[in-house]
Amino acid sequence: MAVEEKRLIFKHIDQPGYTIDIDCYLRNGGYEIAKKALTLKQADIINEVKASGLRGRGGAGFGCGLKWSFIPPTNTKPVYLICNADESEPGTFKDRQIIYKDPHQLLEGMLISCYANRVSLAYIYIRGEFPDGAKILERAIEEAKKHNFLGKNILGSDYSLEIYVHRGAGAYICGEETGLIESLEGKRAYPRIKPPYFPAVLGLYQCPTIVNNVETLCHVKHIMAIGGAEYAKLGTPNNTGTRILCVSGDVNKPGYYEFEVGKITLGELIYDVCAGIRNGNQLKAIIPGGSSAKVLRADETFKIKQKQADGSMIEKSITINDIPMDFDTMAAAGSMAGSGGVIVMDHTRDMVEALANINEFYAHESCGQCTPCREGSLWMKKITTRMTHGGARKEDLGLLKNVADNIAGRTICAFGEACSWPTQSFIAKFPEEFENKTKTETLSEPIRTAA
Ligand SMILES: Cc1cc2nc3c(=O)[nH]c(=O)nc-3n(C[C@H](O)[C@H](O)[C@H](O)COP(=O)(O)O)c2cc1C
Ligand code: SF4
Repeated sequence: MAVEEKRLIFKHIDQPGYTIDIDCYLRNGGYEIAKKALTLKQADIINEVKASGLRGRGGAGFGCGLKWSFIPPTNTKPVYLICNADESEPGTFKDRQIIYKDPHQLLEGMLISCYANRVSLAYIYIRGEFPDGAKILERAIEEAKKHNFLGKNILGSDYSLEIYVHRGAGAYICGEETGLIESLEGKRAYPRIKPPYFPAVLGLYQCPTIVNNVETLCHVKHIMAIGGAEYAKLGTPNNTGTRILCVSGDVNKPGYYEFEVGKITLGELIYDVCAGIRNGNQLKAIIPGGSSAKVLRADETFKIKQKQADGSMIEKSITINDIPMDFDTMAAAGSMAGSGGVIVMDHTRDMVEALANINEFYAHESCGQCTPCREGSLWMKKITTRMTHGGARKEDLGLLKNVADNIAGRTICAFGEACSWPTQSFIAKFPEEFENKTKTETLSEPIRTAA
C-alpha cells in the first residue's frame, strides 16, 4: 500500500471549495495560531522553532531556529525578514502552490516569524515570472490589514508589521539570498561575499536580515499550532516535520506531494505514489533535489550509516529505491534533498543531452562576477553542446571534467557548486555515454582550432 501523504502545508491545497480570500481562511481557523503567538514572549517562539528541528526548505536544509538565533543580541538596527519566493531551481514547483492557492497561510507564518524576531518590516521577494502570484499576495496583504492582522498595533497589541511584495528580476541568481538582497535594494543581483555579508549581520540595507523560504515560513505556523516537541515527532530524527516533494519527468503521475520527512523512500515515491515509470519503461536516473543536486544512477548501491534503537551505528548497503527522502540520507548517498524537486529519467534518456540542457541553463544564469563560474559554466555548455551535436573532440571529456572540478569551491556563492555538481556527477555515473560521444573526432582542423 502506498505511503499516506501527511498534508500540513498542503492541507487545503486543491480542496474543493477552498478559496484564497481571507473569509475562507478564517472559516478554516486562519490566524488563530498567530493570535495565540502574539501573546507569547518572542524568545519562547524561537525556542519552539528550535525544538521543532525545522530545517530550511529552500535548498540547504539549515536549521531555522539556529538561523534566527544568529541575529546579534546587542543589535540596535532594524531587523528585516525576507520571504524567498523566487523558486527558480529547475524541478521545483511547490512555493507557487502555496502562494496561488493559500496565500494567507504564508502571511500567518510570516507574521509569527516576524513577531518572534522583532521585525516590523518584511518583504516577499517573488519570482518575476509569477505576476499573478504577486497580485494574489498583494490582495491578501490588503485583506489582512483590513482585519488588523497586519499594519499598526496588530490586534490591539503594541506590535506593528508591514509586509511588501517585491517582484523579482527574472534571474535564477535572484534566489541566492545575498543576490536577492542586492536585487531588493534595487541593484543587479550580484551575490555578496560571506564573510562579511552574512545576512544575519549585514543583510538588507546593512542591517540584520532573516531570509527564509516560503515553505519554511509556513511550517512556523504549524510548529506553533502543536508545539515544537510535538512537531519534532513528525518525520525522523534530525529530519523533522513534513516536506513537499515535486516530482517531474518520466513517471506516470508527476505532481506535488507532502510527506513526513524520511518516512517515504525514493522507490515508494516513484512506484507507489507516482504510479511508476511511463510507458512501462525502466528507471535510469534520478536527480533528487532540484537540477543542481548530483544525479543518482538506478542500479547504484549506497553505503549508509544508520542509528539503531540502542544508539549504536550500523553500516548498510541500500539501493536507490530504499533511500528515505530525508536530508541526511540523501547527503550520505552523495547527493542532496535540496529544494525537493525530484526529476526522474527513464532508459530512453540520453544523459549527455540531459546534461547539455542543464548546462545551458547554468551558463545563461551565471551572474558573471567570478571567473571560474562565468567562464566555466559557458565552457561546460559549449562542450556538452558539441557532444550532443556530433562535434566533440577526443579530449573533450577530460576537459569537461577538468573545468567542472575547477569551479566548485572557488566562487563567491554556491552557484559554483550548483553548476559543477551536475557535470561532475553525470560524468562519474554515466562515463560510457560521454565516452561514446567523444570517440570519433569529427571536427576539421580549422574548426577545431576555432572551437
Ligand atoms: C543559486 C542559488 C539559487 C537559490 N534559489 C533559491 C530559491 O529560488 N528559493 C529559495 O528559497 N532558496 C533559494 N536558494 C537558497 C537561498 O540562498 C537561501 O539559503 C534560502 O532562501 C534560505 O531559506 P531556508 O533556510 O528557509 O531554506 C538559492 C541558493 C543558491 C545558491
Ligand atoms: S558563483 Fe557564479 S553566480 Fe555566484 S557570484 Fe560567482 S559568478 Fe555569480
